[in-house]
Amino acid sequence: MVPPDMKLCVIGTGYVGLVSGACFAETGNDVVCADIDESKIERLRGGEIPIFEPGLDEMVARNVADKRLAFSSDVGRAIAEAEVVFVAVGTPPRSDGAADLQAVDRVAETVAANVSRETVLVMKSTVPVGTNARVRRIVSEAAFPIHVVSNPEFLKEGNALDDFMRPDRIVVGCDHDDAFARDVMARLYHPVTLSSERFIFMDPASAELTKYVANTMLAMRISFMNEVAGLCEKVGADVHLVRKGVGSDDRIGAKFLHAGPGYGGSCFPKDVVALVHTGREHGVELELASATDRVNHRHKGTLARKLKQVHFEGDLRGKRVAIWGLAFKPRTDDVRESPALQLIDVLLGEGAEVRAHDPEAMASVRALYGERVTLCDDAYDAADGADALVLVTEWRQYQNPDFARLKSLLRRPLLVDGRNVWSGYGLRKQGFVYDGIGVRGS
Ligand SMILES: NC(=O)c1ccc[n+]([C@@H]2O[C@H](COP(=O)([O-])OP(=O)(O)OC[C@H]3O[C@@H](n4cnc5c(N)ncnc54)[C@H](O)[C@@H]3O)[C@@H](O)[C@H]2O)c1
Repeated sequence: MVPPDMKLCVIGTGYVGLVSGACFAETGNDVVCADIDESKIERLRGGEIPIFEPGLDEMVARNVADKRLAFSSDVGRAIAEAEVVFVAVGTPPRSDGAADLQAVDRVAETVAANVSRETVLVMKSTVPVGTNARVRRIVSEAAFPIHVVSNPEFLKEGNALDDFMRPDRIVVGCDHDDAFARDVMARLYHPVTLSSERFIFMDPASAELTKYVANTMLAMRISFMNEVAGLCEKVGADVHLVRKGVGSDDRIGAKFLHAGPGYGGSCFPKDVVALVHTGREHGVELELASATDRVNHRHKGTLARKLKQVHFEGDLRGKRVAIWGLAFKPRTDDVRESPALQLIDVLLGEGAEVRAHDPEAMASVRALYGERVTLCDDAYDAADGADALVLVTEWRQYQNPDFARLKSLLRRPLLVDGRNVWSGYGLRKQGFVYDGIGVRGS
């Protein structure tokens, strides 16, 4: 196998594009990350990483210094100089639930207008089935042959570099007889697939669908366990134990069975709904996927409901609530669709005061809420004088706090544990009112 040393352009320098660009540079390619957001490109050129992703700053700095990685807002030029163009632009939900493909279309038009050689165009954005064919139509008039490949991305924010460098699998959707594209993809991913054969080649439509089905399957497990947690609370069972009992079955597996405050992030919520929409467009009602989304919407109100109905006698006015964790999960600054935002909206809407802390996501929350939420640099400050402390995101630093200190700070010793991380700590014996999601607590 020839070691890779290709000229790449990655269009869209967000969570996926920046990580992919940095990792492809790390594995020896010459990469330009391009974006229409000029301020983002300026920040990157100045050595600033616009997102928080563990290890990314070092990897970017190293590859910029070694001249394998550069940033540009001249997307056309970056395309013209590349042999392989990756598309990692956003595909946000439209109001009807379908994926908005405007950015993808625009990039495809820019690619068609700027290629200067035979080029492989790789769709890394999550796009509905049929998009590969749609992009092929857009680029069909280009001056050089363009091979359109679907290569959905499965990285997880917070663990993105490791996921990229040690992937479970690499799904590549391209024409069976397109040896050129297959060879380019095999060479590019060779360094991260040395230890085992992780390639799954398939047709583009199957590759596109694989991404949505994977995310919907994971979301479905979460929604189901959240429903089970509600049942556990009624019958006196403990979802923690049920999870252990169920997850130890090899056929089921232990992952994605944790009850919590509902799933968020920029992927699961939109991808589940987009899959339902694709089904409807083709006359197929995907009822489990629809229910997954409905359950999640309802469940995301759980923390606020518990506070209001179980603990504050139906009235949140004047209550001071501390929130630990604002990002939709630990090790990221991403607050898109985070359950914490829904909780904040209800609390503010019903007249409560919110004090919050997050190790990485406070700037994003400040941009959304301004002074309406008091953001505290120290997690314990957030709890000062609060009527409740709600754990929404299980950052490691929240997992074993100084409970005695918390007890002295809280006006009322109420802990609402949205991630069930404190359920076994004997907090009731320490004088707290403890409430988790479907767990008995101790
Ligand atoms: N974030 C994740 O964990 C994750 C994981 C797997 C797949 N995905 C998918 O990858 C895609 C990108 O997600 P993200 O979270 O990185 O998005 P993001 O919002 O962080 O970044 C998208 C970037 O694209 C840029 N952009 C938009 N239109 C452009 C254009 N016409 N030309 C050049 N740049 C343009 C934006 O300025 C932005 O910087 C989405 O389809 C998403 O569903 C995301």
